[in-house]
Amino acid sequence: MTVSTEKRCVNKLVVVGIGLIGGSLAAALKQERACREVIGVARREQTCVDAVRLGVCDRAVLSIGDIAAELGAGDVIFIAVPTLTVDKVLADIKAVVSPDVTITDGASVKGSVVAAVCAIYGELPPQFVAGHPIAGSERSGVEASNPDLYRQHRVILTPTAETGAEHLALVEAMWQAVGAEVLMMPVEEHDDVLAATSHLPHAIAYSLVDTLAHDSENENIFRYAAGGFRDFTRIASSDPVMWHDIMKANKTSVLKALDLFAENLSRLRGAIEREDSEQLLGVFTRAKAARDHFTKMLTKQAYSPSMQDKEITYRVQPGGSVSGQLRVPGDKSISHRSIMLGSLADGVTDVEGFLEGEDALATLQAFRDMGVVIEGPDHGRVRIHGVGLHGLQAPPGPLYVGNSGTSMRLLAGLLAGQDFDAELTGDESLSKRPMNRVANPLREMGAEIETAEGGLPPVKIKGGAKLKAINYVMPMASAQVKSCVLLAGLYADGETVVTEPAPTRDHTERMLNGFGYPVAREGATAKLQSGGKLTATAIEVPADISSATFFMVAAAIAPGSDVTLTHVGINPTRVGVINILRLMGADLTLSNEREVGGEPVADIHIKYAPLKGIEIPEDQVPLAIDEFPALFVAAACAEGTTILRGAEELRVKESDRIQVMADGLQTLGVKADPTPDGIVIEGGSFGGGEVESHGDHRIAMSFTVAALRAGGEIVIRNCANVATSFPTFIALAQQAGIALQVEEG
Ligand code: S3P
Repeated sequence: MTVSTEKRCVNKLVVVGIGLIGGSLAAALKQERACREVIGVARREQTCVDAVRLGVCDRAVLSIGDIAAELGAGDVIFIAVPTLTVDKVLADIKAVVSPDVTITDGASVKGSVVAAVCAIYGELPPQFVAGHPIAGSERSGVEASNPDLYRQHRVILTPTAETGAEHLALVEAMWQAVGAEVLMMPVEEHDDVLAATSHLPHAIAYSLVDTLAHDSENENIFRYAAGGFRDFTRIASSDPVMWHDIMKANKTSVLKALDLFAENLSRLRGAIEREDSEQLLGVFTRAKAARDHFTKMLTKQAYSPSMQDKEITYRVQPGGSVSGQLRVPGDKSISHRSIMLGSLADGVTDVEGFLEGEDALATLQAFRDMGVVIEGPDHGRVRIHGVGLHGLQAPPGPLYVGNSGTSMRLLAGLLAGQDFDAELTGDESLSKRPMNRVANPLREMGAEIETAEGGLPPVKIKGGAKLKAINYVMPMASAQVKSCVLLAGLYADGETVVTEPAPTRDHTERMLNGFGYPVAREGATAKLQSGGKLTATAIEVPADISSATFFMVAAAIAPGSDVTLTHVGINPTRVGVINILRLMGADLTLSNEREVGGEPVADIHIKYAPLKGIEIPEDQVPLAIDEFPALFVAAACAEGTTILRGAEELRVKESDRIQVMADGLQTLGVKADPTPDGIVIEGGSFGGGEVESHGDHRIAMSFTVAALRAGGEIVIRNCANVATSFPTFIALAQQAGIALQVEEG
C-alpha cells in the first residue's frame, strides 16, 4: 500500500455554491490532500446529497450558520455563487463568521464584489481576498466538478491595501496547491481585461446563436452548421444566470469593449461592401498572426517574447564528419530589409526565401503593428502590401524586437522620420547593447530620441521632428549605423551622406536601388537625396552566409567531410569567412555563381583539409564580423597560432563574443587568450566540457561544430536563441552528421 504524503495548506475549506467552480476547487483540494476537510454549502438538499455522493465534499449543509461556529484561523470560505448573489452570501457570512476566517470568492467581476463587501462590512475587512480563477467550461452544476479544472490555469487575485497578508498568502497557497498559477492585479484592471477577453466573446457568442436561432431558416442553418460555427459558439452553452450577472456587474467595461468591437465590425462590413481586399487582408492577417502567437503562448511554444523562458541545452557527442548538400535558411540582414523597404514601397512586394527566424519575424511584427498588411510567412514566402514612405501608422504600444539589434537600430532611423511617437524595446541581451551609436547621428539630424541610462534600450523616438540631412563620418564600421542614417535620410531635408571607416555589408544600399530609390556609392561613402519613392519589387533572399559558416567550418575541421552549401549569398561585403578560411588552408570552391535580385550568390563546396593558424588581416574583420565565433573554433583546430586584432566590435554583439568564446574554449582545454580588440588562439587538440553560450545564437552553434574535433562530449547551455537566426539548425546539423541532442527544461 502506498501512503501518500499530505501537503495540507488549508485547514477546513467551506465552499458556498457547489457548482462547477466551487465543486472543482473542493474536489481538487481533496485530491491533492491539501486541506483537512471540505464542507459544502448549498441551497438545495439534493445538491448537498450529490456533492457528498460524488466525493466532492466530505459533508454538506444548507446554511453557513450550521457550521460557522466551527471555523477559525486557517480555514477558508470560498464563495462560488453567481456574481449578483455574492452580496447575499456575504451578508450571511458577516453575521456568523469570525474575522480570523479567510474569505475569498471566484466571481468573474471584481469591482462589484469589492463594492458589495464594502457595503456590507462598512469597509474592506482584512480577511477578504477577492479572486477569480480563469477556468471554466460550458458545463455547470456539481456533476461537472473536475479536480483538474485549475491545473495550469491562471487565478487572478485583486488584493487591496486593506487585505491581510496572512489571508492573501493562504489563498495564494490554496490555488497553487491545485496547480494554478496565481497573478495579482488591481480590481479595475481585472475588470477591463476580463471584459475584453471573456465577457465580450460570451456576449457575441450568445448574440450570434440567438440571431441565427431567430432566422426563419434556422433549422437549415443549424443542420448544416459546420466546425467553424461549433468552435465559435461553444461558449453560448454556458450558464445563462451566471452570464446575465456578469454582464450587469461589469456593465461599464463590457460596454466599452462592445463599442470598440461594434466599430471594428462595421469597418469590416464596409470593407466587404467595397470589396476592399487590402483592408480585409489587413484584418485577417493581423488577426491570424495574433491568434497564432496566442496559441503558441498557450502551448508554451517558441515565439520571440517567450523564447527567453526556455532553457535549451545542446549535448553533442564528439567526432564524426559532415557531408551532403545543404541549403541553409535565408539571409537575416536581407530578410529584415525586405520587410522594411517592402513596407515603405508603393505597391505589393513578394519575397521568396525569407528567414522565418525570430529576429526577422520581430521586424515583420513591428511593421504589422504599424498598420502594414503582410501576408505570410509561408515557407519563406511573404507578400507585403506597401504603404508608401508616409503611410506607416502609430503602433498601439512599444515595438518589441526581441533579440534583434538590426531591427532596433534600423527601425530607430526609420521611426525618426515619422510623425508619430514610438518606443523600441528588446530582450535581456538586446537591452544591454549600445544604442547611442544610432541615437547620436539621429540627434544630429534633428531627431528627438531618449534612451535608458548609458545609451541602452528602450529607445523612445518623438514623432514629428523635421530632420535635416547630415554628412556623417562613422566612428565604427557598422552596417546597422550606416543603414539607420540612410533610412532617416529618406525623410531628411537634403542629401544624406554616410562615410564608413571600412566596408560593411551594403544590403540597404543595394536594396534601395532595387526598389528604384537611387543611392550613390563612391568609395567609402553612400549618399541619398530625400523626396524620392520606393516602388514595389520582387525579392529573392539568398541563403545566409553567416549560417552557412557553421557548416563551412564543420567541413573544414572534421576529417572526411565534404559539404556543398547551395544558393549562398556571396556579397563582397560578407565574404570575409571565405577569405579567412582559404588563408588558413581550407579546401573551398565556389561554383554556379550568379546574381539574384541585385545580390551575388553561389554554391560553396568545402572539403576537409588541415588548417594552419594565421594572423587575420584586419581589413577582413567587418567582412566576417558575425563569423568569428565559428572561425575561433577553426583556429582551435588549426596547427599553430591564430591572432585576431581590430575586432573590439565583437564585444558588443549578442554577447561579448571575445570573452565568451575565450571562456568556452578554455573550458575545452584550448589556449585562448582574449585581448581588448581580439584574441590569440593556439590550435591543437582539445577535450569536451560544459560551456555557456550566454544566450548568443552564434556561440551556441559554434561550440556545436567544435564537437566534431573534441575529445569528449560538449554540453552547451542556453541555446534557445539559435531560433533567432537559424531555426532549422538542429535538423540540418543532425542531417549533416553532427551528433547533436537537444534537452529542454
Ligand atoms: C547587420 C550588421 C552587423 C551584423 C549584424 C547584422 C545588419 O552589425 O553584426 O548581425 O544587418 O546590418 P553591426 O552593424 O553592428 O556591425
